[in-house]
Parts: sequence; C-alpha cells; structure tokens
Amino acid sequence: MDLFDLHSEVAVVIGAGGVLGGAIASGFAQAGAKVAVVDFVPEAGQARVKAIREAGGTAAFFAANAVQRETLAAAHAGIREALGDPTVLLNAAGGNDPKVTVTPENPFENIRLEHWHANFDLNLVGGALLPCQEFGPGMVARGHGSIVNIASVSAHLPLSRVVSYSAAKAAVLSLTRFLAREWAPKGVRVNSITPGFFPAGQNRKLLFNDDGSPTERTRQIWSHTPMNRFGEAQELVGAAVFLASPRASGFVTGADLRVDGGFLAQTI
Ligand SMILES: NC(=O)c1ccc[n+]([C@@H]2O[C@H](COP(=O)([O-])OP(=O)(O)OC[C@H]3O[C@@H](n4cnc5c(N)ncnc54)[C@H](O)[C@@H]3O)[C@@H](O)[C@H]2O)c1
Repeated sequence: MDLFDLHSEVAVVIGAGGVLGGAIASGFAQAGAKVAVVDFVPEAGQARVKAIREAGGTAAFFAANAVQRETLAAAHAGIREALGDPTVLLNAAGGNDPKVTVTPENPFENIRLEHWHANFDLNLVGGALLPCQEFGPGMVARGHGSIVNIASVSAHLPLSRVVSYSAAKAAVLSLTRFLAREWAPKGVRVNSITPGFFPAGQNRKLLFNDDGSPTERTRQIWSHTPMNRFGEAQELVGAAVFLASPRASGFVTGADLRVDGGFLAQTI
C-alpha cells in the first residue's frame, strides 16, 4: 500500500478555515482521509469543505471554538456520527494578535495581562492543549492515532515583537514532547511542524503594508531565509501527510519537522 495513503483515517483539522490548516485539510482529503473541517468561522470552514468535495474528497464542517472545551466536545460527537472515530488530529488554530505585538507605541512593559492571556491561550490552550485533551483519549483507547501540532520558528528562538505568541509556541513544542512520551506506549504519535513564513490571515498586517508592498519585517524575513522567499501553504502538505500516515512515519514521535526554507539553519 502507498506509504502516504490515508484512506483508513478520519482526520480532524482545527483552524481548517485558514490558509495553512485549509491547505492541509485539502491535502489529507486528496490522500484519501475523511476530513472534519473545524473552525469558529463557519463561512471559511464551509468554503473549504466545498473545495474538498469539488475535488472529489470527503469532508464535513463542524463549528468549534478551540479555547472552549464544550464546543470541541460537541464537534467531536458530530464527527463520530458523520465520519467515524478520529484517528488524526492536526492543530492549526492560532496566530498573533496585534494587541500583544510589541511596538514603539505598545512597549513590552505596557502589554495588558488580559491581552497576553487571550493570545497565549489561543496558541497553547486552543492551539494544542484542549484539542489533545478532547481527541487524544479516544485514540489512546483504540491504540491508533497521530496528532500534529503547528508550532512556529519563534518557538525555537523568539522573534522580535511577538512575545506572547513566541512563548506560547515554545510551550506547544514542550507539550508535544510530553504527550509523545506519554502516549507512545498506547499507539498514539504526537509530533509538530515548524512552518517558516507563509502569508496568511493572521500575519498579513505584520508582513504587508496597506498598499500591498512588503513591510520592513518582510524584507528582514526574506534576508534571513536562505531560500529568500515566503513559503506557499501547499508546501506544508507533504510534511503533514507524512506525519499523519502510520505507514510513512510509524516510528516517528516527539519530532519537530521544519518547513521553513532554511530559516532555522542560518545565523548570518
Ligand atoms: N502563516 C505563517 O507564516 C505561520 C508560521 C508559523 C506558524 N503558523 C501557525 O499556523 C497556524 C495556522 O495559521 P495561518 O497562518 O493559516 O492563519 P489563518 O489566520 O489563515 O488561519 C487560522 C485559522 O484558525 C481559525 N481560528 C482562530 N482561532 C480559533 C479558535 N479559537 N477556534 C477555532 N478556530 C480558530 C481562524 O478562523 C482561521 O481560519 C497557526 O497556529 C499559526 O500560528 C503560521
């Protein structure tokens, strides 16, 4: 059988209404998985389901707010009924909130705790913790599953300005390894992907000026990226399918797969 075939998998993609989660959801469907598209923006999620079905795949939309466990539980019940027991979980809800971006007008010492908590919670609690709590135990009980958390290059060394985001993503890496060890004996693998820079909904304001021209930060990113460009969402699909597939990555757990054009391979 094809190493990258996902026909026997039911994949839950949280944040699948977004740019990266959406591309991965489509990639999972193309590899044969039944895909649960989960997002708290119904229009975005439903548009992804439509695109998957038009391409011949199987998908359904389930609304949930990743920072609210009860909404994840309701989505979980709907997924089991409509598609079957989840065997793959990909966590792609997250992003940086401009309210916690450090700027000359919003210096580090002025960041309000409520804004810090909201952004930290989105990226750690909603971005990994609660979905793992909701979907992990079923996989453990059945002895089969793969969880993929989306980290960030700023999980490894913090980027300037996005302090709460970086701290939360570092915690995502830690949680990933904790769960990898915890659930490895039970047949559930837990890994992460570290994307480099991909223009998407949540980071557009940092990367482009209102007139569409690249910001100074974009120029800095490109100059620090050996491939000298942004990634395209499609370029994450192979990494996600690899980690989801028990035949392709059955002995891989606790790993972090960098898809960053070489960003983390470079100092100067
Ligand atoms: N784009 C990049 O360059 C980049 C780099 C590294 C990591 N990431 C991470 O990749 C993931 C996907 O981000 P993206 O860049 O595709 O952004 P995006 O804004 O296009 O997508 C994020 C999606 O998550 C959904 N979402 C946000 N909060 C949610 C919540 N509480 N409950 C349910 N859904 C929620 C949004 O509605 C959106 O559809 C995030 O974790 C982000 O931090 C992105």
